[in-house]
Amino acid sequence: MTEPCYQTIELEVNGEPHDLTTPTHRTLLDVIREDLHLTGAKMGCNKGDCGCCTLLLDGQPVLSCLTLAVECDGRRVETIEGLAENGQLHPLQTAFLDTWAMQCGYCTAGMILSAKALLERCPEAGVEDIRAALGSVLCRCTGYVHIIEAVQRAAAAMRAPVQV
Ligand code: FES
Ligand code: FES
Repeated sequence: MTEPCYQTIELEVNGEPHDLTTPTHRTLLDVIREDLHLTGAKMGCNKGDCGCCTLLLDGQPVLSCLTLAVECDGRRVETIEGLAENGQLHPLQTAFLDTWAMQCGYCTAGMILSAKALLERCPEAGVEDIRAALGSVLCRCTGYVHIIEAVQRAAAAMRAPVQV
């Protein structure tokens, strides 16, 4: 059997730098879940169909089961574990809870990260924009009505002036 080829990569994950040595065939999802123990992103289909493994790479959603870790050398990764700040949930996390927009939660990290990328690019996103942005993440149990409502609610909260 041929020995795997290893490569050392630098990843910034949720603002923290990491140097990781990994076989070159491993995916970003493998490294994030198995090496960094950030298990919010899920392995569903492992072939690009379900979107449960969605992470943000330089702010853009990627299917991490189809992304080689070595392709991410020098890049910035965001996972669901990095969204809360100073003990405060991100408005999308709060909205998903308040709107009952999850049941098993398997798709939730992918939904929230995809929505985050959308709202950062397009704070005024409407329902069709939200549907398009979440289109690569499949939910098997909640249905999409509550999820879309949660993103609309979060968008409104993020646009609201900060109270001082
Ligand atoms: S696990 Fe990556 S798309 Fe399904
Ligand atoms: S909440 Fe179960 S797959 Fe979406």
